[in-house]
Amino acid sequence: MVNFIFQEAVKTVEKTTHQWQTPSNIALVKYWGKTEPQLPKNASISFTLNNCHTKTKIEFEKIEKDTEVNFDLYFEGKRKDEFKPKIAKFFDRIKEYCPYILDYSMVIHSENSFPHSSGIASSASGMAAIAMCLISLEKELNPNLSDDYLTQKASFLARLGSGSASRSIEGPLVVWGKHSDIKGSSDNYGVKFPYKVHPIFENYQDCILLVDKGEKQVSSTVGHNLMHNHPFAEQRFQQANDNLSKITTILQEGNLADFIELVESEALTLHAMMLTSNPYFILMKPNTLEIINKIWGYRAESDSNICFTLDAGANVHILYPHTEKQQVEHFINTELLKFCQKNQYICDNTGFGAQTF
Ligand code: PMV
Repeated sequence: MVNFIFQEAVKTVEKTTHQWQTPSNIALVKYWGKTEPQLPKNASISFTLNNCHTKTKIEFEKIEKDTEVNFDLYFEGKRKDEFKPKIAKFFDRIKEYCPYILDYSMVIHSENSFPHSSGIASSASGMAAIAMCLISLEKELNPNLSDDYLTQKASFLARLGSGSASRSIEGPLVVWGKHSDIKGSSDNYGVKFPYKVHPIFENYQDCILLVDKGEKQVSSTVGHNLMHNHPFAEQRFQQANDNLSKITTILQEGNLADFIELVESEALTLHAMMLTSNPYFILMKPNTLEIINKIWGYRAESDSNICFTLDAGANVHILYPHTEKQQVEHFINTELLKFCQKNQYICDNTGFGAQTF
């Protein structure tokens, strides 16, 4: 493996600020099940989103080297001490690779473009943004480090915060997890899908219907752990790796019928794992199923290529080609809004990953 341990600072940096905007992502082939330290049991692939993002600014100020990481956290302008333990745990995990964080006090300002606790995972975009800010400091400390190395390291660090965050650094398609069909793939970090993608997948649309904004009853950490001793675990990991091979071909050839079948099956299989774990649990809500049935009905009676996918929650992601934007948005507005909490939905599309702002 590439050595991600920071070797030496060639410059002194007393005070600096870095800011990054990093997107959320939606998996097409899902990651569900891991081993320490946050290594996936199978390879996964996602579309990087664009509008759903986190903006984070970190102010660094040099201090006497400490044994603890020093930071304050502001979320949407307000001090948020209740968010600190999760970030502290993240810093603790990565300080081996970024020992320089012990030389600074950090003030972190963060905000999300999507409503707080909307059920859209903010951990992927949030962890990716912090990772990018640290990597910018690292580049200042050692300008000789190459951009490719630093991009890989950003994904590596983000992964240690939240597995799926490894897929939020680049875009529009990122694979995380070693897979024989994907050149350069690794369990340690995400890589851009390395082949030419069919134009039908350019600027692919993802409309997220907010079905339930409540706190999830079961966190994804607990869900991942329930894949240990799960009766279908081995078959599932094998199936996901097989699906990654299939989608690698589909993305190059542009066969939308195959894309739809694979993506919807992946979504339902993810939830099937939850239904069949011990203890079992259900994250879908009645309106999740109402929407799925409406989508199937609409597809049967039109020539539309819409399909759905699900994250670890009740919200439904509707995926469709850019060319169908008008018709699908009309369908959503007339048929699906009534199933959304407070009629809320967010239209997004594929994007290119982290950017400064
Ligand atoms: O990154 P985590 O630990 O929150 O896990 C995310 C798992 C899913 O969102 C359900 C699937 C995926 O691959 O993103």
